[in-house]
Amino acid sequence: MNKKNVVLTGFMGTGKTVVGKFLAKRLGYKYIDTDEVIEKRVGMKINEIFEKKGEKYFRNIESRVVKDVSKLSGYVIATGGGVVLRSKNMDELEKNGVIINLKASPETIYQRTIKTKGVRPLIDKPNPKKEIVKLLNYRRKFYKRCDFAVFTDRLKLEDVVDKIINFLKSEIQ
Ligand code: S3P
Repeated sequence: MNKKNVVLTGFMGTGKTVVGKFLAKRLGYKYIDTDEVIEKRVGMKINEIFEKKGEKYFRNIESRVVKDVSKLSGYVIATGGGVVLRSKNMDELEKNGVIINLKASPETIYQRTIKTKGVRPLIDKPNPKKEIVKLLNYRRKFYKRCDFAVFTDRLKLEDVVDKIINFLKSEIQ
């Protein structure tokens, strides 16, 4: 059977990695993270890619990786927060995937991302909070393209995963 992928999108710090790994276990799916694939392909960490090659280079590799992982099936695919910016990325991911959007408030995103300072070049700025709000406002319309959204601020990991699984069940009925 051709199992549809479950694609996790969402702003930095919305929990795609932790939710993705747990969700994959619950579904008996494999897990893949597009940022990790990019790092392996390029042989550099994400922040190094941004610094040495620039955002456009990163986005181009990201699109190639997205195209490749979209051919998989039975995977939970965690994507980078900016994957929604190119509609062709979404076209690819939608071909064999249900697209989930994890959301969180700017304050929660700030609190979660400050713990891993230095790995997210787009908000690793003198005023990260301001960058978060600015980027979130700009990206809101892009995230709307997803099939289902979960607001994670006040939810436990298990509850987020339950919500996604319930949605997936409702989809196949
Ligand atoms: C980005 C998010 C990052 C990473 C890169 C760009 C973005 O991934 O892909 O730093 O544009 O929002 P996470 O969302 O996993 O932090």
